[in-house]
Amino acid sequence: MPPEDSQPRINPSILAADFANMQSDLARIAGADFVHVDVMDNHFVPNLTFGPQMVERVQATSPVPLDVHLMITDPARWAPGYAELGAASVTFHLEAAAEPVTLARTLRGIGARAGVAVKPGTPIDGLLDVLDEFDQILVMTVEPGFGGQSFMPETMPKLRMLSDEARRRGSAVWLQVDGGISESTIAQAAEAGADTFVAGSAVFGAADPGAAIAALRSMAARHSH
Ligand code: DX5
Ligand code: ZN
Repeated sequence: MPPEDSQPRINPSILAADFANMQSDLARIAGADFVHVDVMDNHFVPNLTFGPQMVERVQATSPVPLDVHLMITDPARWAPGYAELGAASVTFHLEAAAEPVTLARTLRGIGARAGVAVKPGTPIDGLLDVLDEFDQILVMTVEPGFGGQSFMPETMPKLRMLSDEARRRGSAVWLQVDGGISESTIAQAAEAGADTFVAGSAVFGAADPGAAIAALRSMAARHSH
């Protein structure tokens, strides 16, 4: 059962799933909040995954809603299509977007949650004044492109700034982290203010993905405030 809205959200990344057995791997994460879908174009990041056709099949097969993470150039051209195919949440990269607020409004207009992501080295100062234009801000905790990398604790001050500002404004924006999230790193991200956690290898690499999701969620809950 998905938790209440106040509970931390755990979004397993199918980058760590078995692409040839996607349907059975999706069935193993029925206790997650969203399934995180990493779209990479071999241009914005040096890796290539899948496009709208594949995501449409994941949408049709997944027991939980889709959280699409677009690591692509020219998101204004491609992001609306993912919202149109039914993804609950569509996140594009700030570094790739010419007009992030305009694109977020377009995504919301289609009915998706609009997310904006920043790489570890990208400042978030410009987002503080427009927090409520977004439903989710993703602070990358690794360089985007590959699963299985080590969590970068130096990204935590950005999360704290966002969290403080969101609290000050009474904002409903979700703060997401992605990259190297595991039972040994999730506590520090929760303490810094994250409420939505992407985990690839920590979930699909576990013998029991459902138990891994529950363990991550309860650990995050113990450390959130
Ligand atoms: C990295 C992707 C992540 C990745 C996380 O570019 O955005 O979503 O799948 O994988 P782990 O949890 O293994 O670091
Ligand atoms: Zn991702």
